[in-house]
Amino acid sequence: MNLAFNASRMIGSKVLIIGDIMLDQYQKGLVERISPEAPVPVVKITEQVFKIGGAGNVAQNVATLGGCPTLVSMCGKDLYGENLQEICSSLGIESHLIRSVSRETTLKTRIMAQHQQMLRVDRETDRPLDAKEFSTLLETVESRLDSFEIIILSDYGKGVISEEFLRWMKEKKRPDQKIILDPKTCNFPHYDELYCMTPNKKEAAEGAEMAITNREDILKAGKKIMQERNLQSLVITLGAEGMAVFLPGQGVFHLPTTAKKVFDVTGAGDTVIAVIALGLSSGLDLLSSCILANCAAGLVVGQVGAVGITQEVLTETLSSWPSAQQEKWFPLPALG
Ligand SMILES: Nc1ncnc2c1ncn2[C@@H]1O[C@H](COP(=O)(O)OP(=O)(O)OP(=O)(O)O)[C@@H](O)[C@H]1O
Ligand SMILES: [Mg+2]
Repeated sequence: MNLAFNASRMIGSKVLIIGDIMLDQYQKGLVERISPEAPVPVVKITEQVFKIGGAGNVAQNVATLGGCPTLVSMCGKDLYGENLQEICSSLGIESHLIRSVSRETTLKTRIMAQHQQMLRVDRETDRPLDAKEFSTLLETVESRLDSFEIIILSDYGKGVISEEFLRWMKEKKRPDQKIILDPKTCNFPHYDELYCMTPNKKEAAEGAEMAITNREDILKAGKKIMQERNLQSLVITLGAEGMAVFLPGQGVFHLPTTAKKVFDVTGAGDTVIAVIALGLSSGLDLLSSCILANCAAGLVVGQVGAVGITQEVLTETLSSWPSAQQEKWFPLPALG
């Protein structure tokens, strides 16, 4: 398999992303004194940086890899919602952000001093969508759904992905459209009949309601999740150990990480789901898409902050790799 060629095929591939978007705010400064009001340092802010997170980071990865992301999400009718819209357009993401007056845009503020994180402050509305928000979401998705073969659901538990929404998607989608979902544990019981799910090890353990400490456990948990949720395939990401890909009829494949250096693992899961979707959208099979996704995640953990991996960096790196390692763990035990 020519990895670099496969990566270049992703250019122009379309993906619809639906999920919770967030804004990551970094306020950077210097500490020169202790506050006279309380025994805490005073950070004098000198720089502010905004980044797009959650489902937005998935869309960012699709865009930087040369794909065409369409993003449907929800945010507040506030300044931060405007920031998100601006970032989306600057990244070339076709975004449809539903702006609600009764929600706050999810904002994660990091106060940094001398490169050290001093404090993180979160603001968010994570209640279920109200009737108006929900009907706007359905209208926004319905009018675009037809033109996509691959749909990512990026669930960060803020309300966009719900039992009702998943039920509606199941009814609306054509049989040939594939849904890939990045899960949040609280919604696990509702993730039925999907093409693929991409939990990390912790989410897989919580979803299967069992501890995962070794390979046997990964296989057992994966099989249980696939059976209980009636999934067509499953990818469990294993952090420093890479990923396990469950393909009924073929087996379970272990892809060890390709990372050479690790600085920041934030957002690696977003890269994984973005590349799997782009691979499938460009006509690759799931295992080949996962091999690319594992390579891309291996590169993204070597960068600082949740940033997308570019098509240039990916193809250049892959062109010097003859092939990616993979190991067949076991034939997948019969399901059912
Ligand atoms: N410490 C690490 N060393 C090497 N590779 C890593 C490491 N952490 C993550 N990766 C790569 O990133 C992929 C996804 O990572 P992980 O399993 O941590 O997902 P995640 O927890 O969903 O990530 P996040 O929630 O931060 O986006 C892995 O399959 C692997 O390829
Ligand atoms: Mg994740």
